[in-house]
Order: sequence, then C-alpha cells, then structure tokens
Amino acid sequence: MEKSALPQVVVTRRPPGKAVEMLGEVASVWAFPKNRVISSSELADRARRADGLYCMLTDRIDRRFLENAPRLRAISQMAVGVDNIDLAAATARGIPVGNTPDVLTETTADTAFGLLIAAARRFREGYEEVVDGSWGEWDPMGLVGQDISGTTLGIVGLGRIGQAIARRAVGFGMRILYTKRSRDHQVEKELGVEYRTLSELLGEADHVVVVTSLHAGTHHLIDREALAMMKPTATLVNAARGPVVDTEALVEALTDRTIGAAGLDVTDPEPIPADHPLVALPNCFIVPHIGSASVRTRIRMAERAAQNLVAALENRKMPYCANPEVYDIGP
Ligand code: GLV
Ligand code: GLV
Repeated sequence: MEKSALPQVVVTRRPPGKAVEMLGEVASVWAFPKNRVISSSELADRARRADGLYCMLTDRIDRRFLENAPRLRAISQMAVGVDNIDLAAATARGIPVGNTPDVLTETTADTAFGLLIAAARRFREGYEEVVDGSWGEWDPMGLVGQDISGTTLGIVGLGRIGQAIARRAVGFGMRILYTKRSRDHQVEKELGVEYRTLSELLGEADHVVVVTSLHAGTHHLIDREALAMMKPTATLVNAARGPVVDTEALVEALTDRTIGAAGLDVTDPEPIPADHPLVALPNCFIVPHIGSASVRTRIRMAERAAQNLVAALENRKMPYCANPEVYDIGP
C-alpha cells in the first residue's frame, strides 16, 4: 500500500514492547515523542486527521475531543479502566474503544494484596521508624496491627481482579464476602465466596478491598456513611479509581479512627499533592497508581492495546473492547 493510503494513527505516549512496530505494519504512526502526558491542545490538533488513537488513562477523551476528530474510527487504551473516555459518545459515533483486561489481572491483584498487608500491619510507620532513627528496643506491643490471615475479607466488585484477590485470600485462610451489581452463583461455587449487600459487607468484613470500575453509579460509593459502617479496626484498600472513595470522608475516618487504616493505589485527586492531609496520616499507605506496574505486564498491556487497534484498522472486531455494543448497532 502507498504510505498515503495507510490509516493515520496517533499514539499519545510511547508504549513499551513492540506496540509501535505492530501499529506501523498497518498504519502510518505518529507517537508523541516526550515521556510525559501530551497536552490536550496538542492531542486535539493531532487527532484532527487521525483514523486511530492509541491512548493512556491520563488522556481525556470526551465528547468535544471526539467532535474534533471527524475521521476517528477506533480508540485503543493501554489500560483496563476507560473512565477517562466518554464511552457513550464513542459508541454513538460507532467507535470501538479497546482496553487491556486479563493481562494485568494477577499483577494488580498482587498490588492490592500488598497494600492490604502493608496498611493493616503498619509497614509505613515501621519504615519511618527505621529511617528516622526511632527504632528502639523490641517492644511486646510495638507497632502491632491487624491480622490478615484468618480474617474476613470484603471485596467490592468481583470482576477479574476481584476474583484474583479472592484466590489469594483463600491461601490466607480468609472468609470472603463480595458485593457486585448482580450475584454470580458460578463464582460463588468456584471460589467459596459469599454474596452480601454493600452495607452488610462493610459491617461484617475485617478488611475491605475496592476493585470496581468507576462510573456514575460508583462515584463516591465509599462515602462518609459507608466508612461509618466499617469496623474501627478495618483496613480499606482502593485499587480501583480514586473517585470511588470520597477523599474528604476518608481523611476524617482515618483521623478519628472510624476505620483502622487505608492502602491506596489510586487517589482523588491524582497525583495527590505531598501536602494533602491524606498523605500526612500515619495509617494511610499510598503508592502512585502502580497496580499493573510490572515489566512483563506493562509490555503485555502495550501490545494488547496495539492488537486491538490493528484489528479495528483492518475492519475486524477488537479482541478486547470496552463498548462491544458498538458492533451490534454498527456505525
Ligand atoms: C490501570 O489503572 C488500568 O486501568 O489499567
Ligand atoms: C478488570 O479486569 C476487572 O474486571 O476487574
């Protein structure tokens, strides 16, 4: 094919692995050359002539952006969560939106479990003692936290990642509760998990892990009222998206010990400023959105996102599509 006849693809940030090469086999590719988030004005400008967009969760793909990208016929994001993209607007335009489930499930579940252990067992305070020189004599009740093994775990959102967390919890001898929009009898049987309503789960669980996707129905799902239902010794882990938890309510709950601790991979806002009250709390352990950040997983995500875009540009169905209904209604 002539170079000019090839579809034009915009890549908003250079992905790892062979992703760009894969795209280059079917398209003429422009990739933002700097290792930072592209400005929305430059992105809008580049997208005006693009047939395909390869983007990151830090890019805002809203209705206005789509209106200014008349040729766009496929979007592929290197992430499982696509809450930064106006899915309804994309679907209305007949644009499939690709995402990267499965490849990041185990890595993200590892992170969530790590945060649970770190927060419940007070790793941050322990680490701070070591580095500031206040590690004194061994103390029978020094830095005692809450157990993980043998306790009850509540999982909010039993998707792929939630199920992977449940499998880890089985190994820790935990009782596992879950809540989800619809009950999943198959998974209940397979994993031995028990369904609860959200408020039942919050009251009964020793620890709560949130792994639901962010949408209008889950925005501030964990609010002041929800936190008040949790046990005062409980740990809350957020490995979903920051806005699923009401930050102001969480600061209060951790300060007055309505709950015991929090382990966060995501925050609202994100990044969270270093002088934010949440960051100062000794019972809050935060890592900067690294849920899927292993070398192997990030390469797999990048290449899966490339596969999705290549498929769409070749007029095939995206193997992993966040708005599959786009294929039912057509463009
Ligand atoms: C990361 O948060 C993702 O959605 O892949
Ligand atoms: C993500 O892949 C999920 O379904 O939890």
